Amino acid sequence: MKVAVLPGDGIGPEVTAEAVGVLEALGLTGLTLTHADVGAAAWRAHGHPLPPATLEAARAADAVLFGAVGDPDCDTLERHLRPEQAILGLRKELDLFANLRPAKVFAGLEHLSPLRGDVAGALDLLIVRELTGDVYFGAKGQRINDQGAREGWDAMSYAEPEVRRIAHVAFRAAAAAGQPLTSVDKANVLETSQVWRDVVVDVAGEYPGVTLDHMYVDNAAMQLVSHPGRFGVMVTGNLFGDILSDLASACVGSIGLLPSASLGSRQTAHGTFGLYEPIHGSAPDIAGQGKANPMATILSAAMMLRHSFGLEAEAARIEAAVARALADGIRGGDLGGSHGTAAIGEAVRARL
Ligand code: IPM
Ligand code: MG
Repeated sequence: MKVAVLPGDGIGPEVTAEAVGVLEALGLTGLTLTHADVGAAAWRAHGHPLPPATLEAARAADAVLFGAVGDPDCDTLERHLRPEQAILGLRKELDLFANLRPAKVFAGLEHLSPLRGDVAGALDLLIVRELTGDVYFGAKGQRINDQGAREGWDAMSYAEPEVRRIAHVAFRAAAAAGQPLTSVDKANVLETSQVWRDVVVDVAGEYPGVTLDHMYVDNAAMQLVSHPGRFGVMVTGNLFGDILSDLASACVGSIGLLPSASLGSRQTAHGTFGLYEPIHGSAPDIAGQGKANPMATILSAAMMLRHSFGLEAEAARIEAAVARALADGIRGGDLGGSHGTAAIGEAVRARL
């Protein structure tokens, strides 16, 4: 079980250190960790946000535990040197096409949601976002159009095999959870979405036990805030998934609690190669102050044990310890509490 730890920028190093502490507390035999620079930290040290050595460390591992990238000092750099390019590069280079973003409201934390408590309490969904295609990775550029105006353009496309493989991931997740699947697209306007929908319908034939429905992305945004409980598993493309997963996390009330997995196509000895990261960013405003809530990263480490190492019981132990810590009143600043990063890590370890 080789893990490449990429702490990154801002609060990334603080929160990954606590997640590593939780992994070490489990006393797993055969777990080895290597650390590498990524993001602005890597740009400062090596002149590039994703240096070759970091990419190699990730490739050589069975899983990547990732903190966060992003640094306001880098906002004026050329695009290919900005920290965000590191995560986009890792996704593309490692073929991490399946992004799993679970969002649920923990019992007792309904009041943190901007939604009414009874509505928020029903929120428990998994967003399966395609992560290596769509308008994110299409041809793009700027040009002067025929009228002499500056114009930006980005090509959106999905090929059938790209849709097929993410649809399989989503159907399998829905089948395993006994949940309905909602496919989100914009097939009333976009050809890309028509292909998406056709392929999803086709794949559905292989999963007769899963109830499938389709929703336009604008309606899905409405339903997420008005009836979040109607969703079990949602599958969607890269851009819509980016937006809807932030919306879902806002509905939870804190982004300090939400983990994610980005799974690739390569199999490990007991699972699938993947990159695991909290969905929050680098939060430069509180970096280095020991204030950040590490729970999202700790829960990401649990997803790593489950998906890359087949250690379901250990993953569940971590998740139960986090839920227990929350139930016992352990709260970071994001939850209106005053527990710091190290105290929260310690509280979770104590409840393993
Ligand atoms: C995310 C982020 C990234 C994305 C950015 C940092 C490139 O918003 O993981 O959702 O847009 O995918
Ligand atoms: Mg995003």
